[in-house]
Amino acid sequence: MIKIHAQHLLTPTGNAPKRGSEMKKIYEDFDVDIFLENGKVVDIKKHSTTDHVTLEAKLVTPAFVDAHTHIPFIGKRTKEFLLRNKGKTYSEILKQGGGIYNTVNHVKKASISELVKENLKTLNLFKRFGVAYIEGKSGYGLDISTEIKQLKVIKYLNEISNVKVAPTFLGLHAIPKDMPKKTYIEKIKENLDYIKKYTNTIDVFCDKGVFLPDDIKELFNFAKIKGFKLRFHADEIENVGATKLAVNLGAISADHLLKIGDEEIHLLSTSSTIATLMPGTSFYLGEIYAPARKLIDKGAAIALGSDYNPGSCPIFNPSFIMHLALRYLKMEPEEILTAYTLNSSYVLGIENGAIQPGKYCDIALWNTEDFVDIPYMFHHNFLTAIVINGKVTFY
Ligand code: NIG
Ligand code: FE
Repeated sequence: MIKIHAQHLLTPTGNAPKRGSEMKKIYEDFDVDIFLENGKVVDIKKHSTTDHVTLEAKLVTPAFVDAHTHIPFIGKRTKEFLLRNKGKTYSEILKQGGGIYNTVNHVKKASISELVKENLKTLNLFKRFGVAYIEGKSGYGLDISTEIKQLKVIKYLNEISNVKVAPTFLGLHAIPKDMPKKTYIEKIKENLDYIKKYTNTIDVFCDKGVFLPDDIKELFNFAKIKGFKLRFHADEIENVGATKLAVNLGAISADHLLKIGDEEIHLLSTSSTIATLMPGTSFYLGEIYAPARKLIDKGAAIALGSDYNPGSCPIFNPSFIMHLALRYLKMEPEEILTAYTLNSSYVLGIENGAIQPGKYCDIALWNTEDFVDIPYMFHHNFLTAIVINGKVTFY
């Protein structure tokens, strides 16, 4: 049994996902003891005695859950960063054979053990900033065997890492260079049962110059029948109708959403699809931000993520992502906490993100009583300890 004395406790509670104004309703208490057994919260009581206190902190929150990353990958794309600085766009670089294709070359060449080693280091960086659980995707193979290699890497990472990774198949990340789009989609369809051995979630980059709704509609319908949860990289570069399709198919999440309009905002507000936003990508590409305020005000559920990847967002730090969410998505502090814990857990299909008796929860301990200090001084690390699956790491 672990006993955590919290001078200040902040956490979402209740069932996920929280929608609209519900996202602001956070449970707050002071001077309490939190009792944990095997990662599960068993009790929260007013602090009485310092006997048997294992941990102590000015502020205790659920550890963060990152709803969208592109781990595992290897290799850098520094040159593209410079090219974009000179005016080349993300789409132009991809069209000319760089971008995602660049990382595909690196991942194809790397062995499983190299990928495991590199990405385990990254998971520990996430952890250092209070992240206990992330999503990870394939998508840097663009052929079945390399895509599966990435999913195997996630499986091996989960065997050795404290931070856990929920796997997603993103074979439809770009059009393979050596195969027509249609043939590749057909190949994926034939291999869905094989893919299902590694993950039950399928994602697509549904946007201009990549896969359009008409390309993938049938495959995604079929995947849904086979029991896959659907996710979409939707309408990030241009509004191609990806969000509409995501909602129509009952996708668990529609991600990015930079170019959506009022129609999509209405659809997301009245459906069970979670709007998953990654303001780090807008910042990094110098793009516009998703209409988060409108989405929340209309009643949509928002999850937050980093989109950590070597091209459009090499940022894993949740303090900075939350800074951007406050500043440019105009979200409230309580909303960002909900979006980075309980709602992101819902997108990943895991129980996490709420410090509440009877629930499993990874926990972060901070050296400030004010939660807003974390995004406010984003380059300062306030984390003093993190408890993942009942195991404590001190910093
Ligand atoms: O979420 N939008 C597509 N995919 C990623 C970028 C991946 C890459 O450039 O390597 C994204 O931004
Ligand atoms: Fe992404």
